[in-house]
Amino acid sequence: MRKIETAALAALCLGMGLNLAACSKDGGGSGEAPASASAAAPPTDAEKAAALAALPAPYNTGDLSNGQRKFALCRSCHTITEGGPDLTGPNLHGVFGRTAGTKAGYRYSDAVKAAGFAWDAEHLDKWLADPRGFMPGTKMTFAGLHDAKDRIDLIAYLKVETGYKPVP
Ligand code: HEC
Repeated sequence: MRKIETAALAALCLGMGLNLAACSKDGGGSGEAPASASAAAPPTDAEKAAALAALPAPYNTGDLSNGQRKFALCRSCHTITEGGPDLTGPNLHGVFGRTAGTKAGYRYSDAVKAAGFAWDAEHLDKWLADPRGFMPGTKMTFAGLHDAKDRIDLIAYLKVETGYKPVP
């Protein structure tokens, strides 16, 4: 039983790509990250800091730890790691620059399929403030993140974590 729980937790941690305290603390001795976790090679803190500094304002001053905390609101429906599974919502790796509603293998609502723009910080800011107000007909049942600074921090976090590359 204990083993199964530990395995499930490890899979969850891997799937989420998150450094949750539980991911390293739990596990009764086998709490070391499994070998495959390092194969996924999450960016180091220094790489994250550099990626943050390279973002356009105001995202370069985003608070990544607050962004990570706000991502807890998304986590039940989205993974952000490369190749992560689609849950209720699509995997968000590489979402910046991707045309809305085009992740292969995910069934979007007609509203998102018809959106016709590529995700950038501006669109994401409006979407996260009020998904169904911004795009009526979407099936993302998320009430919205109303604090503008929280959205900046979350968008900065997503940029750093989802493989965003600044356009030269
Ligand atoms: C209750 C589940 C749920 C929650 C919570 C949720 N989402 Fe979603 N998300 C979805 C669904 C479902 C879709 C697909 C929407 C559609 O097709 O209409 C979606 C779509 C998206 C898209 C568009 C992706 C694309 O490929 O076009 C983005 C970006 C997104 N969500 C970001 C977020 C972020 C960031 C959060 C947290 C603040 C969040 N979502 C919270 C379910 C959720």
